[in-house]
Amino acid sequence: MKQINGHFYGQNIISVEQFSKDDIETVFQLTTQYKKGIEEGSVYADLSGKILAALFYEPSSRTFSSFIAAMQRLGGGFIPLSNMANTSSAKGESIEDTVRVFSKYADALVVRHFEAGVPEMMSRYAEVPVINAGDGATGEHPTQALLDAYTIKDNFGVLDGLNIVMVGDLAHYRGVNSLAKLMTLYPKTKLYFVSPPVLKITNSLRTYLKKRKATFFELEDLNKVIKLVDVLNVTRLKKEYISEHLYKQLQNSYVIDIKTINRMKKKSIIIHNLPRIWEIVREVDRDERAVYLSRQVRNGLFIRMALLRLILKK
Ligand code: CP
Repeated sequence: MKQINGHFYGQNIISVEQFSKDDIETVFQLTTQYKKGIEEGSVYADLSGKILAALFYEPSSRTFSSFIAAMQRLGGGFIPLSNMANTSSAKGESIEDTVRVFSKYADALVVRHFEAGVPEMMSRYAEVPVINAGDGATGEHPTQALLDAYTIKDNFGVLDGLNIVMVGDLAHYRGVNSLAKLMTLYPKTKLYFVSPPVLKITNSLRTYLKKRKATFFELEDLNKVIKLVDVLNVTRLKKEYISEHLYKQLQNSYVIDIKTINRMKKKSIIIHNLPRIWEIVREVDRDERAVYLSRQVRNGLFIRMALLRLILKK
């Protein structure tokens, strides 16, 4: 994977590992410009004449729609394939052929796949940039991590020196993988991974964090850290990747309710990649620290506008 190092134009976005701190600042600055512009009613034509093909092999609400909306907001066009099972993939067309075909129609491909590594593999066949919109249970979700980090910075003014607690199913959460990796660029930030023993972070993430000398802790009891949380990143228990028995057994663990948030700092925030099922009770939504259905989800649009603009135009 190629490092970006300030050169976004024509780049694949496969992993947050490609980004430096300066690259992140570049994306954030443009994100803020678009955010202000859209909120003031500006209409953009920055990507007029460009087309994005969205090839989604796995369900999505936010990532798919926000990429399409981002393209529309920038005056570009799109090929919206929200269910690749309805394409010639179902007839047995290979990934390689699919990529070659869509490279001839579009200026970039955004891909979600149920298998880790597929967007990276596709980028080797593609003639246009490929953006990873989430790959497998153990892969990455780089644009999610960027919007999470943007939301955090927007709230605290910094990304360094924070206590970020990630809780729940950490074994099957590509968003956690990407956010944790990205935060290693900010060495004073401490990461706390709270999960049942069977759903701990992957060995691959653990190895990466050690290599990057990140300060991180793995524990089972959220109560031990709840008072020091700046950012609480809540995850869904991914029933698609675990047995029914385990799902039922763990269903009531780590439910964030009013009692939990009453123990959190007044200036903390609660984020979630969504969809939320039962892991945050609905009463929590009314608390101003709960940003998952408001600022966080909205920032997804602006981050994707910025990235598309940087990748598709010099
Ligand atoms: N956050 C996220 O990836 O949501 P979707 O699965 O709905 O795209």
